[in-house]
Amino acid sequence: MGWNSWYGFGCKVTDSLIRAQADALVASGMKAAGYEYINIDDCWQGQRDARGVIHGNANFPDMKALGDYLHSKGLKFGVYSSPGPKTCAGYEGSFGHEEQDAEAYAAWGVDFLKYDYCSFKGDVPAQVAAYKKMHEALEKTGRPMVFSLCQYGMDRVWAWGPAVGGNMWRTTDDLDYRYDRISLVGFGQNGLERFAGPGHWNDPDMLLVGLGKMSEDENRTQMSLWSLLAAPLLASLDLTQKNVQALAILKNLEVIAVNQDPAGVQGRRVAQEGPLEVWMKPLADGGRAVGLFNRGESAMPVTAFFRDLGVGESATVRDLWASKDLGVFKASYTANVPKHGVVMIKVTSEK
Ligand code: GLA
Repeated sequence: MGWNSWYGFGCKVTDSLIRAQADALVASGMKAAGYEYINIDDCWQGQRDARGVIHGNANFPDMKALGDYLHSKGLKFGVYSSPGPKTCAGYEGSFGHEEQDAEAYAAWGVDFLKYDYCSFKGDVPAQVAAYKKMHEALEKTGRPMVFSLCQYGMDRVWAWGPAVGGNMWRTTDDLDYRYDRISLVGFGQNGLERFAGPGHWNDPDMLLVGLGKMSEDENRTQMSLWSLLAAPLLASLDLTQKNVQALAILKNLEVIAVNQDPAGVQGRRVAQEGPLEVWMKPLADGGRAVGLFNRGESAMPVTAFFRDLGVGESATVRDLWASKDLGVFKASYTANVPKHGVVMIKVTSEK
């Protein structure tokens, strides 16, 4: 869980902007809710010196000092590079400098590397070798760093991501700021659940919550679905702006608990009726987190049948967004769900 600069700021990133976002992550209560990583995406890179050592550009004069600042706030420090010679935005990539770059990151106190395909060219064995090379370089430093593969879900990356040391891998090309794209990607994750588990996760890209183009129900849909998917939760909104509604969604502790559940099982679709979908994530305590989603254009009732959830005939139901126990139900639970919205519940078999 954390924050990434890309969707909110693109290439307009600077040292002071990152520090301000880190301050705001703490002040807004996001850190207390579990968001921990501050990841600079593309556009921090400067030139290599005569020895080939990478440095930050003029906007990032001292990467080590920035890392120290983040750590002093109890946060973790993420950076971004590419296995190709150039990053997607045309900055310096790590091709041919993998060990040097890994050493630089370790010296700066980096905790997370997003490694983005971009200008790399190669078939699957070449991709595997390139990602593995950086993984080995990171390992060699002795500093633990989360290794985030960004390769847009080509060539079934989920099948080989763990073997190259990936802790997470993008399963898809970029999102954008619209519900249509986010729902296409999010609901399209079904079937990938068997490739995810503790330490190696499917990544359907960042949370666009609070970035402007989605309604409150749509924001809640993304947060609910990403939680049921056990997906990395990386927000990207400007945390220095007061965005009460978005922050309430991002900080909902009961929904976050579903995402962070220790069993680490990725949820899946258990029922569909046209635009109405029911998704279920089994939890460590035996309960089931359930999303009743309405992808249609008007409010409709959505029913979760307990037999589809693998719970007994009689079960208690709690509304997670409303933080409210709803009582004991027999065989099924039905809620009226707004257009593009969700009702998220926890269902627990009665003993
Ligand atoms: C690609 C990635 C994005 C972002 C940009 C940066 O498009 O998929 O997440 O990192 O590059 O240039």
